Amino acid sequence: MRLIIGMTGASGVVIAVELLKRLKAIESVETHLIITEGAELTIRDETDFDVFDIRRLADFVYDVNEMDASIASGSFLVDGMIIIPCTMKTLAGIVCGYCENLLLRAADVCIKENRKLLLVPREMPFSRIHLRNMKELADCGAIIMPPVMTFYNTPKGMDAQISHIVDKILRIYNLPDELVEWKGDRK
Ligand SMILES: Cc1cc2nc3c(=O)[nH]c(=O)nc-3n(C[C@H](O)[C@H](O)[C@H](O)COP(=O)(O)O)c2cc1C
Repeated sequence: MRLIIGMTGASGVVIAVELLKRLKAIESVETHLIITEGAELTIRDETDFDVFDIRRLADFVYDVNEMDASIASGSFLVDGMIIIPCTMKTLAGIVCGYCENLLLRAADVCIKENRKLLLVPREMPFSRIHLRNMKELADCGAIIMPPVMTFYNTPKGMDAQISHIVDKILRIYNLPDELVEWKGDRK
């Protein structure tokens, strides 16, 4: 399976790092990573990770301005793209088909080729513009999966919340996950 991972400058880049780690452990998955300049800022602001170390988690890495990269073309076959976290700016760019950088172009290609595009949009609260843009993309077939906290699995802290979100994403692509099945409230 070939997946494009786009990281943009929304809060929550640690979720993307966890996803990349999990994907790296799955031999059958080949990852193609794009990190925007905005994401480089949030990586610096929110984490202790070096961007270089995050890049090493992927099989292929592209500069966000590398418009002639393989993933800019629909002829390069991929199984989907995950934008995690996804800013409201990038969301708006995709909705408008405004392919200003490689990440936006790759998302545009996914939509035109009917490939599975999953967005992890992060903002709080969402404005009507944000919600309208998400609805537009959902209508185009994109999967909108904001990093919502869960409680039914009684997670122990932030790491467990992050793992749960990553597991939910992996399940969308039929990849191995560690989700616990809810069996109702019968004890
Ligand atoms: C520390 C930090 C946190 C941010 N968090 C968010 C956020 O949660 N959601 C969002 O849409 N933008 C957020 N932004 C603003 C975006 O990074 C900014 O709009 C940027 O231009 C997005 O560009 P990109 O989509 O190409 O990464 C944040 C910026 C910084 C510096």
